[in-house]
Amino acid sequence: MIELKGKPVADFIYQQIETKLEKWSEHKWARPHLTVILVGADPASQVYVQHKQKACEKLGFKSTLIQLPDSISEKDLTEKLQYLNNDPSVDAILMQLPLPAHLPTKKMSDLIAANKDADALTSSSLGLLVTAQQMVASCTPSGIMEILKFYGLDVAHKNVLVIGRSLIVGFPLFHLLNQKNATVTLAHSKTQNLKLLIKEFDFVFVAIGKAQYFKASDFKKGAVVIDVGMHRLESGLVGDVQAEGAVGHLSALTPVPGGVGPTTIALLMSNTFKLAEKSRMAPS
Ligand code: GUN
Repeated sequence: MIELKGKPVADFIYQQIETKLEKWSEHKWARPHLTVILVGADPASQVYVQHKQKACEKLGFKSTLIQLPDSISEKDLTEKLQYLNNDPSVDAILMQLPLPAHLPTKKMSDLIAANKDADALTSSSLGLLVTAQQMVASCTPSGIMEILKFYGLDVAHKNVLVIGRSLIVGFPLFHLLNQKNATVTLAHSKTQNLKLLIKEFDFVFVAIGKAQYFKASDFKKGAVVIDVGMHRLESGLVGDVQAEGAVGHLSALTPVPGGVGPTTIALLMSNTFKLAEKSRMAPS
């Protein structure tokens, strides 16, 4: 079984960005600038945001963290986002999710200007994805596509299953796989007989959000399994899939931690770079 580690994939993406950045000094362009908004003090979100800032530092990007109180009103957050949309020094905006329950996530995300939408989460970015015209797509699914490419796993002509239809993972992944000519089935919380269904597929992308929900033996023998889950248990970090029993049954599996996670951050850097480059190249 191949362990589909994310770090070499992420390193490859960072190298590509660094090579492209060398050209920027010839133009004397300002380095890319990512602004991250963190509302409240969710401990997991704080850790994710730190990783994103470290990745910016590593590449020499400018990063700004805007920490806002849990109690912020919809109006104040709206004004903050509008201010950042209009700030020409900001290339990319990421609003860390989840937001506190009193804030409408989709409405708030949709306020981010399309040309600064690092997460590709706005309705306009998703519309471009559905019509295969996207310049950037959501970071986790894009990172998964890079894992497949890096390890030479071709989904064209394959029947593949995506489990989970969130706007940040399952839904964009469905479209990215479709663009690569896979025949994609999208399963979700209302799908019946999921454990019977998964036995049919050579590729399964699991974003069900339940710790160790599937056993390796639940999948077809020889399947490639991409585990998007990330859960903090007392025993440590685990995914949606139990790794035990995978060797000898699956042909490939992403480890948790160290699989999809590192590529998500690398794709955030890549998206930030692309948005910044487009803005530098635009006639002023
Ligand atoms: N929370 C967990 N993962 C993500 C992500 O990729 N983007 C945003 N905005 N929030 C998240």
